[in-house]
Amino acid sequence: MSSKPQLIIFDTTMRDGEQSPGASMTLEEKVRIGRALERMKVDVIEAGFAIASQGDFESVRAVAEAVKDSRICSLSRARAEDIDRAAEALKPANASRIHTFIATSPIHMKYKLRLEPDAVIEHAVRAVKYARNLVEDVEFSCEDAGRSEVDFLCRIIEAAIDAGARTINIPDTVGYAIPGQFGEMIGQLITRIPNADKAIFSVHCHNDLGLAVSNSLAAVLNGARQVECTINGLGERAGNAALEEIVMSIKTRSDLFPVTTGIYTPEIVPTSRLVSSVTGFPVQPNKAIVGANAFAHESGIHQDGVLKHRETYEIMRAEDVGWNANKMVLGKHSGRAAFRARLEQLGIPVGSDNSLNQLFVRFKELADKKHEIFDEDLHALVSDTQQDVEENYKLVSLEVTSKTGTTPEAKLTLNVNGQEKPVTATGSGPVDATFRAIEAVANSGTLLELYSVNAITSGTDSQGEVTVRLNQAGRIINGHGADTDIVIASAKAYLNALNLMRANIERVNPQGQVEGI
Ligand code: KIV
Ligand code: ZN
Repeated sequence: MSSKPQLIIFDTTMRDGEQSPGASMTLEEKVRIGRALERMKVDVIEAGFAIASQGDFESVRAVAEAVKDSRICSLSRARAEDIDRAAEALKPANASRIHTFIATSPIHMKYKLRLEPDAVIEHAVRAVKYARNLVEDVEFSCEDAGRSEVDFLCRIIEAAIDAGARTINIPDTVGYAIPGQFGEMIGQLITRIPNADKAIFSVHCHNDLGLAVSNSLAAVLNGARQVECTINGLGERAGNAALEEIVMSIKTRSDLFPVTTGIYTPEIVPTSRLVSSVTGFPVQPNKAIVGANAFAHESGIHQDGVLKHRETYEIMRAEDVGWNANKMVLGKHSGRAAFRARLEQLGIPVGSDNSLNQLFVRFKELADKKHEIFDEDLHALVSDTQQDVEENYKLVSLEVTSKTGTTPEAKLTLNVNGQEKPVTATGSGPVDATFRAIEAVANSGTLLELYSVNAITSGTDSQGEVTVRLNQAGRIINGHGADTDIVIASAKAYLNALNLMRANIERVNPQGQVEGI
């Protein structure tokens, strides 16, 4: 046990992370991510913004029901309706937190809130008191604190602490801060605010200048004891501080940091992969900690050094963050009981016997094509099968011709509401031809905004996981499909997006519909 105080790791992948255009998650996906964060021993999980939509409300509630070891939090503006909704969604939680915020920078107060600074303080105090009547644990955030005046921050924070806030969050909402300056600002606030000792100071940094992690760490060196962050640095615009970078910086440079974290680091890579697969946001190969090249040594000098003595070029051990942890869990001969047990260990809700049977059939099909089935394969299989959506469009068959010197062609049969429709189309490549063939039948009027393919595991027998993002007059839908054949995976992903669109179950940038106050 370390004698250092523990830095609270507050994960906002499912709230701020979900604000990345196209990164919205279904309820079932949020529960899976929530369970992965719990396995990682994240202290606080911000599961959503309950008032933003019915879907967000239900997701916060579902995460609060499923996750018992981490504290579950919902965001709310400084308004009674928001706070009521957050409290209601959080009822099933073992430990809950309401996070309420109001903007404090001159530009936000004048143009967005159209409120005088004194009125902003009144709103903040009222909101914190109101929230404290509903839950014990209330966090107050000064939105755009990075561009706020320190004197005003001192006034509003002192009032919020007096009103009962136990965590004070200082967000650099627009990613404007610079490490030395931001760290100094946090230090100043903690020194100047008379009741600062009654609250934990937190930071929440955006990455517009690529400084989110540096700013957060500078704040920790100056007294912050909570950091808000996201897996893979997902988040609004350029994203938030990446959880994995914060945690591993503190662990690796324990000689410099006056804190420790409670994070179980071997879960970092599997969780990063899960978030990437759910959102369709690939992780760049040279991304720190979780990128495919993060521990790969290419140059001869480096390889030689590592072989002779690992620490010559490695400051962390790959296995400590979960590399090589993907176990061969199941194979062709595994039975239903082993299959169910592994899904349960991964925190994947299995549901009825019928849905288990359906999953098991798909698992056997996959095991026939690919002998070693890893955890990542299981996640993809479940994402593919367990969408609670009626399949208006089903892939019956697909034949693709792709030959040097000829135009690729896709012959496809779709089942559309029970009726089989064969169609042929050509395109610039096999995937393009397939999408054109689907559109010749569906005529959806959508725009393809993103197409990404990720190998789920290593090796050429890996499943390809495809994300297709469609935009239909502003409605953004992500479809996912996985298969060992990437053209089939692409067709599945496209059809999945069309089915989700027809079923109307997606959320359109859920928090994007909420206004200032
Ligand atoms: O960036 C921000 O200011 C936020 C707050 C709501 C905490 O996300
Ligand atoms: Zn934010």
